[in-house]
Amino acid sequence: MWPKQYNKRVRNSFVVLALALTTLFSQPAFSQADQVPTDAETIAKGETLFKQNCKVCHNVHTRLIGPALQNVYDRRTLPWIYAFVQNSSKLIASGDEQAVQVFNENNQVQMTAFDFLSEEEILSIMAYIKDQTDNPPVEEAAAAADSGATGTAQPEGLPTSYLNAIIIGALILLVLLLIVLFMIVRTLSRYLRQREDIPEADKELVETKNPLAILRSKAFIGIVAAVITAFVVKQVIDGLYNIGIQQGYAPKQPIAYSHKIHAGDYKIDCNYCHTGVTKSKNANIPSPNICMNCHSSITKGTNTGTAEIEKIYAAIENNEPIEWVRVHNLPDLAYFNHAQHVAVGKIECQTCHGPIEEMEVVRQYANLTMGWCINCHRDTELNTKGNGYYDKLVKLHEQESDKPFTVEANGGLECAKCHY
Ligand code: HEC
Ligand code: HEC
Ligand code: HEC
Ligand code: HEC
Ligand code: HEC
Ligand code: HEC
Repeated sequence: MWPKQYNKRVRNSFVVLALALTTLFSQPAFSQADQVPTDAETIAKGETLFKQNCKVCHNVHTRLIGPALQNVYDRRTLPWIYAFVQNSSKLIASGDEQAVQVFNENNQVQMTAFDFLSEEEILSIMAYIKDQTDNPPVEEAAAAADSGATGTAQPEGLPTSYLNAIIIGALILLVLLLIVLFMIVRTLSRYLRQREDIPEADKELVETKNPLAILRSKAFIGIVAAVITAFVVKQVIDGLYNIGIQQGYAPKQPIAYSHKIHAGDYKIDCNYCHTGVTKSKNANIPSPNICMNCHSSITKGTNTGTAEIEKIYAAIENNEPIEWVRVHNLPDLAYFNHAQHVAVGKIECQTCHGPIEEMEVVRQYANLTMGWCINCHRDTELNTKGNGYYDKLVKLHEQESDKPFTVEANGGLECAKCHY
């Protein structure tokens, strides 16, 4: 016979084993959050890889072209993630249920194959995603909250269509008024003609058969001539001022590229394509290679099918640039620098270019005259926060004047700043 205390020990170890087994199996089969590294070095490496390869199509917390990647290591096994990232179409073609499902949920947009990434590198990307999942950055939340605000730059003053409507309305009112006046005059003179007790001079006026005779009077002709001359002169002056101004210019482009789809619907960052905008004078128009980052796998558009996207492939094959038609064009005598305004001045693209993210075809939003530049330099305060270069200048300015420190106060109206 076993001693009693043995019985108890055996029973206890069974209980422990059972407990261990249940905890093991009650875990979802693929929860592997603890297998994702959390050291800073791996996270940093993953961040770089993510920004280089994935950021175009994925955010961590919100969907972009692909789904949000937060917690993806809880939804899928690591081997599945490796296989999907390295070659998603192979996995989809193999009939893998999860792969087919996520492919269909994303309108069958194909993800680029990353066969050059090792499993270790993909794991480091997961480390970065886990870090971002666990510590959502504050600015991203804030940006999401006010993302609506950026696109809503209102055009200054009344839009032309409003002005036109007002003018037409006023004209109609004027004509109605004239008709009513004419009718009143007719009734009154008919009434007066029946009366005997009016003076001779007035009688003459009333007797005039044709009330339109007034149109032949010198005074009337003089007034009309003056109005017409004023109108013509104004047109000529406006015309002279507008020489070289191309506000609203929206040329047809060689490929029906749409900012509304790319920058609007898919929220692709302006800097992703206009790479120079924070670093140099020119914003740059992207080369076909940048389009190919996505269009090597996105071969069809909802509106134009393959017709337009194929032109990108033709450009790549023939090694020819796409001949985009320039929309904005300052004369050579003026100097304008994007980095100065975007990176230093912190001015939104939309302030000068309007709601580009809503435009199917880009149009010139501002008139780009010297007056436009100068007016903004008069009104805009310098963004001196966190910019050590300005600290001394701000102090100097505050000693001399109690007006705000505008671009003008910093010499932004000097001819040589804008003219070579
Ligand atoms: C060209 C755009 C594009 C790029 C670049 C891209 N993805 Fe994707 N990704 C997608 C799309 C679209 C899906 C949805 C599945 C599908 O349609 O094939 C997806 C799905 C995924 C999934 C599955 C998500 C889920 O919920 O199951 C993972 C994981 C993933 N991507 C990781 C990455 C990683 C890591 C990178 C960078 C190395 C990357 N992707 C780069 C477009 C892209
Ligand atoms: C996917 C790439 C891509 C993104 C993202 C993008 N653009 Fe563009 N942009 C282009 C291309 C290509 C052109 C030239 C064709 C055209 O004018 O439509 C262009 C032209 C322009 C022009 C006119 C340039 C000229 O000829 O004077 C402006 C202004 C502009 N983009 C502003 C923006 C702003 C602002 C954003 C962000 C809200 C943005 N773009 C996002 C690709 C892009
Ligand atoms: C970051 C990824 C990305 C980049 C970069 C990109 N596109 Fe696209 N493009 C897309 C997506 C997503 C669609 C929408 C596909 C759809 O309609 O379902 C699209 C659609 C299109 C369409 C078809 C629109 C339609 O509805 O028929 C054209 C044309 C196009 N892109 C041209 C370009 C050109 C030219 C460039 C380079 C200047 C470019 N794209 C760069 C993601 C991208
Ligand atoms: C202070 C006004 C202002 C702001 C802010 C601004 N732009 Fe411009 N942009 C201009 C002017 C002016 C031109 C014409 C420049 C020329 O012809 O030399 C221009 C031209 C362009 C062009 C044509 C190519 C080139 O480099 O000349 C692109 C593309 C462009 N801008 C994109 C952007 C984007 C993207 C942003 C935001 C990140 C932006 N711009 C912000 C005023 C502005
Ligand atoms: C929406 C407002 C705005 C418009 C429009 C604008 N600017 Fe500016 N500009 C600024 C601001 C703000 C700064 C100051 C940036 C900084 O902190 O250096 C600046 C600075 C400059 C500077 C440097 C001045 C200095 O003191 O060093 C030049 C040159 C310049 N702008 C040229 C132009 C030209 C040319 C145009 C018209 C084609 C123009 N700007 C239109 C806001 C504007
Ligand atoms: C903030 C930038 C800025 C400053 C400061 C500036 N200009 Fe200009 N100027 C421009 C721009 C931009 C144009 C081109 C506008 C156009 O073509 O309508 C221009 C055009 C001109 C032209 C040619 C007009 C034409 O119709 O071709 C003359 C002349 C001129 N400026 C003189 C001056 C003088 C003199 C000063 C100093 C008192 C000065 N500018 C200061 C931006 C500036």
